[in-house]
Amino acid sequence: MKVSISLGGSLLTKSQDTESYIRYAEIFKRLKSMGHILIIVCGGGKLARQYINLSNELSATLQIQDKIGILATHINGYLLIAALGQDADQRIHRRSIEIKKHLGDKILVGGGHMPGSSTDYRAALFAGAIDADLIINATDFPGVFDKDPGKYTDAKKFDKLTYQQLENIVKKRFKQKPGDYGLFDLKAVRYAADKKIPVIIIDGTDPEEIIRAVNGRHNGTIIS
Ligand code: UTP
Repeated sequence: MKVSISLGGSLLTKSQDTESYIRYAEIFKRLKSMGHILIIVCGGGKLARQYINLSNELSATLQIQDKIGILATHINGYLLIAALGQDADQRIHRRSIEIKKHLGDKILVGGGHMPGSSTDYRAALFAGAIDADLIINATDFPGVFDKDPGKYTDAKKFDKLTYQQLENIVKKRFKQKPGDYGLFDLKAVRYAADKKIPVIIIDGTDPEEIIRAVNGRHNGTIIS
């Protein structure tokens, strides 16, 4: 299967040591050894938010804030490449128009490219460019809920949604600004819908859930 994965930066930067990079690298190596073709786009996590906040205090433009976020995604990407070792192509990929020619026996790692979106959108663009079978959004949230499960104990998780339903939820409940593009970037939803590529939103804090998503037995939400 060809899979494009948006790997939430918070999953990588939580422990602020090498542990998480190594754990996720092991998962991606396993998927590769099963014959799957992977592109992993790393988010910026704590690193992005910390420096975007500083730039915000300095009244940086939104464009500069986004550019700082992009740099953070590249730092995370290079750390993941280091953890993947020889299983990874050693570059950070940014341009979707060039990605197809780099597909081979290595795992590709991507990062942010243009201001005004998040790495979710990049993962969707890469998926479109390589005719991927699936987009996985590995986040620290266990799927899509009808309301904020942090606030409401009776919040219900959706197993399935249409692209339009997800778009409505994202528009209603999540901001789209530097350092915070919410559960899934709106541009990414629209692009995946246009290309008819299914999206699975999973709780990536358990890295095994990524393998379950590829195998179709996950606990998250599928959007198609
Ligand atoms: P993330 O993809 O980590 O965004 O990129 P996010 O949605 O804010 O964070 P998570 O996934 O929920 O943890 C970090 C920041 O980098 C900028 C944006 O400001 C984004 O918030 N960015 C990233 C871009 O401007 N363009 C890109 O292509 C990617």
